[in-house]
Order: sequence, then C-alpha cells, then structure tokens
Amino acid sequence: MELRRLQLTHYRNYPALDLAVGAGLHVFSGANAQGKTNLLEAVYLTAVGKSPRTSQEGELIAWDAELARVTAEYASARRGAITVEVALGRRGAGGTSAQKRIRVNDTARGQAELAGVAPVVLFLVDDLEIIRGEPARRRAFLDTDLSAMSRTYGWALRQYTRVVEQRNRLLKGMRDGEADPAELEPWNAQLVSFGARVLEVRARFVADLNAVSGETYAGLTASAQAMTITYRCDWGDPEAEETTRDAFTARLDAAVREMAGEELRRGSSLVGPHRDDLTILVDGKDVRQFGSQGEQRTAALALRVSEFSLLQRLFAEPPILLLDDILSELDRTRRAALLAHLAPLAQVILTTTDVDALGLPPHTDVHLYHVADGTVAPLTA
Ligand SMILES: Nc1ncnc2c1ncn2[C@@H]1O[C@H](COP(=O)(O)OP(=O)(O)OP(=O)(O)O)[C@@H](O)[C@H]1O
Ligand SMILES: [Mg+2]
Repeated sequence: MELRRLQLTHYRNYPALDLAVGAGLHVFSGANAQGKTNLLEAVYLTAVGKSPRTSQEGELIAWDAELARVTAEYASARRGAITVEVALGRRGAGGTSAQKRIRVNDTARGQAELAGVAPVVLFLVDDLEIIRGEPARRRAFLDTDLSAMSRTYGWALRQYTRVVEQRNRLLKGMRDGEADPAELEPWNAQLVSFGARVLEVRARFVADLNAVSGETYAGLTASAQAMTITYRCDWGDPEAEETTRDAFTARLDAAVREMAGEELRRGSSLVGPHRDDLTILVDGKDVRQFGSQGEQRTAALALRVSEFSLLQRLFAEPPILLLDDILSELDRTRRAALLAHLAPLAQVILTTTDVDALGLPPHTDVHLYHVADGTVAPLTA
C-alpha cells in the first residue's frame, strides 16, 4: 500500500497543501508546532476515519474556516487506485464538533466501512502508555486496531459497549430498589453473546501478535530477549484456556451467574471484555512493572512492528508506516537499527525535529521535506 498524493484544505494549520509522494522513506522535518503531526494525522484520518489525537473533530478544521477537506490517493498492489476523501463541516460557530462525510472512490461510506481500505500502522510517542498505562489503555490499543481491521469487530464492540452501559444503569436501579430484577435476563444474554464475539477476536489477535512479537523484540534490541503477550481475563474460570467463541460463551455465562450477587451490590458489570488486560513480559518479567524506560519504549515499538506483520499477512501487502517523532528517545544505534529494519519493508512516512540525528540508512530511497507554518517544501537529500 502506498500513499501517492495528499491534499489538504483548511485542515488544522494547513490552508492548502497538495503533496505528491511515492515509494520509499519520506522524512518531514521542522521545528516544533509547524504541522508535522498534523500531516500524519490527516493521512490517518483518511485511513481509519478518525483522528488519533481527538474525538472533537471540529478541532481539525482551521480556526478561521467552517469546512475542511482531506483527500488521499492510495495505490494498492492488489486493489489498484483508491481515493479517500474526508470532509468536515463545523457544527455551530466556533463549535468543537463537526459533521463528517467520507467518500471512497467517489461513493459515500460510513467510518466503519473504511476498515481495511488503506491499512496503516501509526507509531506515536504516546504509545509508551500502552505499556505503562492503565488496563483501559491496552484495551483501547486492541479495540482501535481491531476496529480498523474488521467491520464486524467494530460492530460487535459497539453493541457490547451499549449493552454494558444499559446493564450498569439497570444494576444501579435494582440496587436502589427502582428497577425490576426480571429485566436483567435479556441483558445478560446480550452481554454473553456480544462479549464472546469480542473475546474471540481479541484472543486470536493477541495470539497472532505473540507469535511474531518475540522475534521482533529480539530483532530490535539485537539480543536474545523474548517478549511474550498474553490476553488476561480475571473473571470466570482462571484455568480456562480455550478461546473459541463457544468456550467464551460458556465461560461468560457461568461467570455472570456466579457474580450476580456482587454485581447487584456494586451496581456494575464485573464480568466481560471491558474488564480485561494484556500481560507483556520481557525475558519473563512484567515490563510494565520492572522494565526500564528504554525497555518499555522498545516493547511499545515491538507491538507496532508486530502489528505491521499481522496487517501485512491479513491484507497480503505491506501497510503504510507512519512514525511520529518516535525516534528521538532512542539511542543512535537503536534508531539506525529500527530505520534500517523498517525502510525496506514498506512506504515509511516519518516526522522529526532533527534530520541529522536520525542516522538515515544508506542506499535507501529517502525523500526529505521541510515543514514550516503549514507549508511543505521538498529538500534535496
Ligand atoms: N484547527 C486549527 N487551526 C489552525 N491551527 C491549528 C489548528 N489545530 C492545531 N493548530 C496548530 O497547528 C500547529 C502545528 O501542530 P503539530 O502538532 O502538527 O506540530 P508539530 O510540527 O508536530 O510540532 P512538534 O514538533 O512540537 O510535535 C500548532 O501550532 C497548533 O497551534
Ligand atoms: Mg508533533
């Protein structure tokens, strides 16, 4: 998959941009606050349908405009030319919400329908929080990735989230003597049914990630250290190993019954994928608790590189790699090793404040650009 052309109109600090790109490694450099991340955000918006930074889509429209437009032309080795256009219109003067219209090859599409249209993997400085942050951060990692890969996952997750919200409201009502316990049974059935769908896909994805992440981590560190990722549910039978939808259905069903009293007391749903987490071990130790900053950073990178391998297999072509300033924290050797590893694999679009510090790999197809105040100018390498 390759991005061939990106056009922005009134997008963040870009009044107008028309940028042609080809294969290879594309480096966008510039001082802080010039529009480097905005550029990657715009590409991601056309690939995934939403910003990785904000859910307030009015923020994406230039402050002095009412309408923003992003058009990306992609070339897929298997599916040919694909044009994705996202138009955003501000709701109310100065509003932070926006109306969004998405068109793929000139046909209107919903956000969920973008799944798999233009596969990308985005590396952010903030990815460190996937390793270090709360369990919700790791669930969000799984959910964002899986929703971008599969429409049916996105659908099951939305249904499941709605069921948990409704069920929590009902449990609180029952606890306070305001709701009838007989109303709970249909919500239990839905929790089990949508929950098992979500669990089955997450467990398979984590097993697939795990199959490649060990080697990836060792490759990034040039060591024999292994990284292992496991999906963890602390409810129901902790010995259970089967990860089919039927097995999760039976396990959820039993756990919902077993926890009925406690759920009522607490007025909250205590069983299901909204309670789960990932355990990430490096060399047998939990990297969240015991890893150094550098090890945690490398684990986060290894997750993204593993994601790349999975997407490549799933779509039978390499996804586009978007790297937002993630190299600055690595030492020179690791920086060079990462770039040398990634550059031959796919089209890479990366941002940096300091080109000289990158350690660009020799003999690669490198294209340099300078970003200043919402403009992009090609530089000769
Ligand atoms: N809706 C908007 N309209 C106009 N300008 C905006 C809008 N949203 C953000 N900006 C501006 O865009 C500028 C560039 O943001 P961006 O995050 O792309 O910078 P960057 O080049 O990645 O910087 P850094 O190196 O600090 O990460 C910021 O100065 C911000 O104020
Ligand atoms: Mg930035």
